[in-house]
Amino acid sequence: MGCPASNVTKGGAGSALLRDIRLAEACVKAMVKAVKIPVTVKMRAGWDASQHQREEYRDFLKMFEAVGIQGLTIHPRTRAQQYEGHADWSLIARAVEVGSSFPIIGNGDVIEAEDAHRMVRETGCHGVMIGRGALYNPFLFRQVMEPGFLVTPGMRIDITLRFFRLLLDLLEEREALHKIKKIGAWFTKGIPGGAKFRQRLNERNDPHELIREIEALRNT
Ligand SMILES: Cc1cc2nc3c(=O)[nH]c(=O)nc-3n(C[C@H](O)[C@H](O)[C@H](O)COP(=O)(O)O)c2cc1C
Repeated sequence: MGCPASNVTKGGAGSALLRDIRLAEACVKAMVKAVKIPVTVKMRAGWDASQHQREEYRDFLKMFEAVGIQGLTIHPRTRAQQYEGHADWSLIARAVEVGSSFPIIGNGDVIEAEDAHRMVRETGCHGVMIGRGALYNPFLFRQVMEPGFLVTPGMRIDITLRFFRLLLDLLEEREALHKIKKIGAWFTKGIPGGAKFRQRLNERNDPHELIREIEALRNT
């Protein structure tokens, strides 16, 4: 119940479910009944500011409790906000205060390792979910667990190469190229020569050439 993409919400799915608590309830109930594994939910702060102000997420919390979910992740932006502004962490704190039988996992704007620790301190959440931060810095999880863990440009190059090679092993070349372009744009932030590489990403259509270019960044 977090996805804001219009091709998802126009069919009533993703964050559009936040506009129809009875339908959301029916979906989650059916899932809990159908599977033996724990069912968890991820939600936004609401569809728009008015739903956020009315704190309708509280009704959802109660409903989730009654239906028997095993965990809830809250990304406290509304659907209307998309990725604008800041995630309102106070809403995560209020959900923790309300109390529930399941853990509350905070999400939104954890970009540096310290943000994850600050989120736990400020909200009391039981876990942290990381999205974009891990795309900018795949070592982020390690840095959260081991504060002070240093990441060198060489390590960033190595992990980018490893990822590219995995994509080439696992996918059709065309599909791998598409993902390499996407991931290459994120993973190379902060690598010396990375900006130039990103400019070339759109011009190249041979993934092997892109791999050679990443390798060449070692010498920049
Ligand atoms: C490339 C990308 C793909 C995402 N796909 C999903 C998804 O499939 N399901 C989901 O619940 N959230 C998805 N999200 C949203 C994130 O899980 C997360 O809620 C949001 O990015 C805010 O957290 P962040 O500030 O750590 O990025 C996606 C985000 C990005 C950037």
